[in-house]
Amino acid sequence: MSLLSVGVDVERLLSELETLAGFSDAASPAVTRVLWTEQDIAAHRYLSELFEEAGLAVRVDALGNTFARWTGTDPDAAPVGTGSHADAIPESGRYDGTVGVLGALEAFRALKRAGFVPHRPLEILLFTAEEPTRFGIGCLGSRVLSGAMPPENAGALADKDGRTVDTVRQEAGFRGSLQSVPLPNGYYAAFAELHIEQGPILEKEKWDIGVVTAIAAPAALRVTLTGEGGHAGAVLMPDRRDALLAAAEIALAVEQAAKGSGHPDTVATTGVLRVFPGAVNSIPGRVEMEIDVRDTDLSRRDHAVKQIREAVAERAGERKIESSVVVLNADPPAICAPAIVRAVEAASKGLGFSCRPMISRAYHDTLFMARIAPAGMIFIPCRNGVSHRPDEYCAPAQMEKGVAVLAQTLATLSQRESRVDDAAP
Ligand code: GLV
Ligand code: MN
Ligand code: MN
Repeated sequence: MSLLSVGVDVERLLSELETLAGFSDAASPAVTRVLWTEQDIAAHRYLSELFEEAGLAVRVDALGNTFARWTGTDPDAAPVGTGSHADAIPESGRYDGTVGVLGALEAFRALKRAGFVPHRPLEILLFTAEEPTRFGIGCLGSRVLSGAMPPENAGALADKDGRTVDTVRQEAGFRGSLQSVPLPNGYYAAFAELHIEQGPILEKEKWDIGVVTAIAAPAALRVTLTGEGGHAGAVLMPDRRDALLAAAEIALAVEQAAKGSGHPDTVATTGVLRVFPGAVNSIPGRVEMEIDVRDTDLSRRDHAVKQIREAVAERAGERKIESSVVVLNADPPAICAPAIVRAVEAASKGLGFSCRPMISRAYHDTLFMARIAPAGMIFIPCRNGVSHRPDEYCAPAQMEKGVAVLAQTLATLSQRESRVDDAAP
């Protein structure tokens, strides 16, 4: 397809990102928007209104995943999908995920202004909870959509207060059977997500666009350690079974499991530590830890997970602490479809932007969409590679380029007669 002359309204995109950032439980510039809190529901409503204003047909599934469709000249053809998430981890920034949602909307509007009419429908997917904050598992929406997690297992997940996905989603207004959520394989002809890089490479090497070829394999563990609580003054040191001290040793073992792999792509983080009862004059009787382990190589990732499990048994055992380890998820990596990679590269080249292939070390909903559709990602630089922090920043000029590349990529893919596969030109 020849190159479209697409004018991106970056001012409007910035203003919508600003409004969206206002739906937050943290003071600006930080953003905290946890799944199905009041702010998250309000943000969802705002985005749905924007989709409708743009003339898109909005459908919301029983888990809150939201589809906004621009019907093409062949309404029955499998659509080309795009989109991302709008939830935000505590004290994070305003660009993670949101650029792929509002950027997709602006890409659609820009295509409409340019007089483009798609052959296949184009569809924005606003995913439910890419972030694991509330229910401990990342990519909840796309996991269920793609069939990677059975709906009933998703429904039974509980938050730290013991409230389940099934209960909370209905209170948030998302009703109907969770069994209706999974999409059939082949629902999308192609899927492409726009996202900030969340790492430093594009900025450091001065690239406009990164085209993702693979997404690293994430795993998450929840470790519960049960010792014995007691009075911080009265219980003498030899008599203690302090769960926090075992946790401290395990956190060091987590670091060692990553560092000891001998490869820089192995990373492991203890990001959650809940101490009970959490009083200065009380010995920690119980601790919950959540541990994130990732690698581009599945066997190396699994080896690190195994070492962490062994460390939990050993360190807890030495201190006579009871331990349990639950693997919340252990996902394989995703390989992006070569045909989508080529479409992004061609769009970038046609628009005069530099483009580099790269691996995504962060996970994204595309990790799961790649299971049911030829899928790929477009990365744009973010300042100093910073993400998941309030000072996350993406320059308007970079967003403009990313949206233009997304628009051109979607336009190209939507004109394809056959499902995009690796044999397609
Ligand atoms: C996504 O937010 C991730 O943690 O990679
Ligand atoms: Mn994130
Ligand atoms: Mn994200």
